[in-house]
Amino acid sequence: MRLTVIGTGYLGAVHAACMADIGHDVLGVDTDTRKIEALAAGRAPFFEPGLPEILARNIRNGRLRFTTSLAEAADFADLHFVCVGTPQRADSLAADLCHVEAVVDGLAPLLTRDSLVVGKSTVPVGTARALSRRMAARLRPGVDSEVAWNPEFLREGFAVQDTLTPDRLVVGVTSPEADRMLRDVYAPMLRAGVPYVSTDPATAELVKVAANSFLATKISFINAMAEVCDASGADVVTLADALGHDTRIGRRFLSAGLGFGGGCLPKDIRAFLARAEELQVGEAVSFLHEIDRINQRQRRRTVDLAFQLLGGTLAGRRIAVLGATFKPDSDDVRDSPALAVTEQLVDLGADLRVHDPEGLDNARVALTGPVYCADVMEACKDADLVLHLTEWSQYRALDPVALSEVVRAPRMLDARNVLDQAAWRGAGWQLRALGRPAHVPPPGQGDALRVTIPQSVAPAACAAPAPGDPLSGAPK
Ligand code: UDX
Repeated sequence: MRLTVIGTGYLGAVHAACMADIGHDVLGVDTDTRKIEALAAGRAPFFEPGLPEILARNIRNGRLRFTTSLAEAADFADLHFVCVGTPQRADSLAADLCHVEAVVDGLAPLLTRDSLVVGKSTVPVGTARALSRRMAARLRPGVDSEVAWNPEFLREGFAVQDTLTPDRLVVGVTSPEADRMLRDVYAPMLRAGVPYVSTDPATAELVKVAANSFLATKISFINAMAEVCDASGADVVTLADALGHDTRIGRRFLSAGLGFGGGCLPKDIRAFLARAEELQVGEAVSFLHEIDRINQRQRRRTVDLAFQLLGGTLAGRRIAVLGATFKPDSDDVRDSPALAVTEQLVDLGADLRVHDPEGLDNARVALTGPVYCADVMEACKDADLVLHLTEWSQYRALDPVALSEVVRAPRMLDARNVLDQAAWRGAGWQLRALGRPAHVPPPGQGDALRVTIPQSVAPAACAAPAPGDPLSGAPK
């Protein structure tokens, strides 16, 4: 099939490459000339395992091309996927729909044949319907068009795998023809047995925000349990393991620590809250405010624990930070919990040295203040404290003995709860983590040391997050 993918950011670039890889003729479209030039040359503009190979292969075999011209897109195909961004608005919790609206406004008058426009971006429920009306008002006489929604569930770091072998496909359509076209697009996945849910556009839009809200809720639930663990001497990792054995609960997305960030979960729960208010059902999802607050609190609690570990002085103390991205296997620092913690510590006068395997270039742009280091040992040299903030596998493989020889004091705060506590403590490190006892009691002795997190050190850290709070939105 011939199809276009409009918007070649994270979602669009991966979708375009994967659609070509399953045999379609694909034209990727973006207004950003530099991005289009990079993609056309086979270069992924961001770090994503597997994407460079799939881009190169499909550019070489001629199934994947890129352009900045919407007119060329309108002429090329009758099926257009819309993958542009829907960031949080600067003035509210709501999603900013200006990019999807601009695509519809630009494309509609250029269409000369009946077409199907399929949104993949995450949008507030009701968007497809509104866009459909917007489209109809701009079409040439005699041309018809349907707006369908087909949300994307890909995770950064696994984007290619999630697109080629998704857990499910969800399409929201208003006609049997649209459903048939989308079944044809995804025919290889359907043959492989991927579940296909065909529904109305509103339900399809809602599936995406509900899924991300559920995942965010699961993470904040276990982080709330981490707070209770700190107050009672219990261990949140053992708690999560035990809960996870219950197949109704499951262990995934139950890892306590610094909480969630990135370009999706934080803004999606906020946009859902805003949309529910508009629909006058704000009360039904008001718990998402609490999910957001718990998540923000983990960042503050990490700063507090760092403060405590350094004996109450941060000014001039050297702190090494392992990880700047919002999660491993990504170079994305949007709303990164690691950078938010780093920023607070810089503001409190500490001397920060940050390492990340892939995210340093983006981190440098997002946050000035720390020294960025390409080498872990260099970052940790003479450190009074090491913070493990993003769980890249290479940090788990660090040798605690070798690292103890370069730091000034062997103190580690494992904010992702993945380091081998026995190995690090055995090598002489003072190791602490949120939701875990400061010392592991011998088996059978449940009287673990009670961990007391002091009152927040920074005045702002006590306040509930407000829109515009540097900790509640994208990094600077
Ligand atoms: C998410 C959804 O998973 C994906 O389906 C959707 O399409 C886009 O949003 P992504 O933003 O790539 O994907 O990240 P994800 O892997 O979901 O992790 C989100 C955040 O939660 C990360 O900051 C991660 O570190 C954190 N997290 C995840 C936890 O703190 N604990 C967990 O147990 C799992």
